[in-house]
Amino acid sequence: MKKPVVSVVGSINMDLVVSAYKRPAAGETILGKDFQIIPGGKGANQAVATSRLGAEVHMIGRVGEDTFGSNLLKFLEKENVVLDGVEPLLDISSGVAVVTLADQDNDIIVVQGANKYVTPDYIRKFEKQISESDVVLAQLEIPVESVVETARLCHKHGTTFILDPAPAQELPSSLVEHADYITPNQSELSQLLSDGKMSLEQYPQKLIVTEGKNGVLYFDGNDTIKISSYPVKAVDTTGAGDTFNGALGYAISQKYDLQTACEFANAAAALSVTKLGAQGGMPTIDEIRNFLYKNGKQDIVIA
Ligand code: RIB
Repeated sequence: MKKPVVSVVGSINMDLVVSAYKRPAAGETILGKDFQIIPGGKGANQAVATSRLGAEVHMIGRVGEDTFGSNLLKFLEKENVVLDGVEPLLDISSGVAVVTLADQDNDIIVVQGANKYVTPDYIRKFEKQISESDVVLAQLEIPVESVVETARLCHKHGTTFILDPAPAQELPSSLVEHADYITPNQSELSQLLSDGKMSLEQYPQKLIVTEGKNGVLYFDGNDTIKISSYPVKAVDTTGAGDTFNGALGYAISQKYDLQTACEFANAAAALSVTKLGAQGGMPTIDEIRNFLYKNGKQDIVIA
């Protein structure tokens, strides 16, 4: 069977992850528990999540010609992500994210570095790749005008476009219009339109809100569909949203109906938080199948 083709347009970061017993207050110094350097970036994470499920994944993004950059490319290669769309930049640092894990949650500061150079012109070089994809995934750690251009090209070629609007900002109207699916979490939702009012009913079958422990919500045109979360022991929630988007992209590329696609992505995200690192817990398709079965969801049929 031919693999679905998914392209990811987005960031590639090295995550500098500090675990601590608590967060320091402003001006305070505390002792931490652990430190790790782990591959991340919302774009790269979504590429890895989709590739682990068995899609042919093409990354479109940029790294610096530095140690982080070459290691990030090695990690992506190991995960079978095709890197023809990643051109390293001389004299520019790779993107980094400083992640703090404390109080069973994370906070993240991203320094874009090379990700800033994923410009609209750069995106246009990969129009053919975009036109040949079943699904394109994008986020907002690259310039928003490049995401707008990606959405425009997807619209032009009839390629399904999924936008993870993170980190949140007000979205240009053409981006909202050209996106087939938009997947904010609850706190991002209020930042996407100037009046702060984006409702599920306004965007049936398009706006999918992830609420972490409270599950996933969308409006199907008649009813609000709620998919509950799973009681898992969370080790690290970093990358749960990326796993959701990667799995959603895979499921949509396989033509699952929206409810099955959201069930599938919800299960993938639940599994992802059980291990350290954004990419550490991203599951395979068999792991998702077993997880759904164990949780009494045998009726969800996964190809
Ligand atoms: O979504 C998680 C990701 O956000 C991290 O891997 C970090 O790189 C930031 O981009």
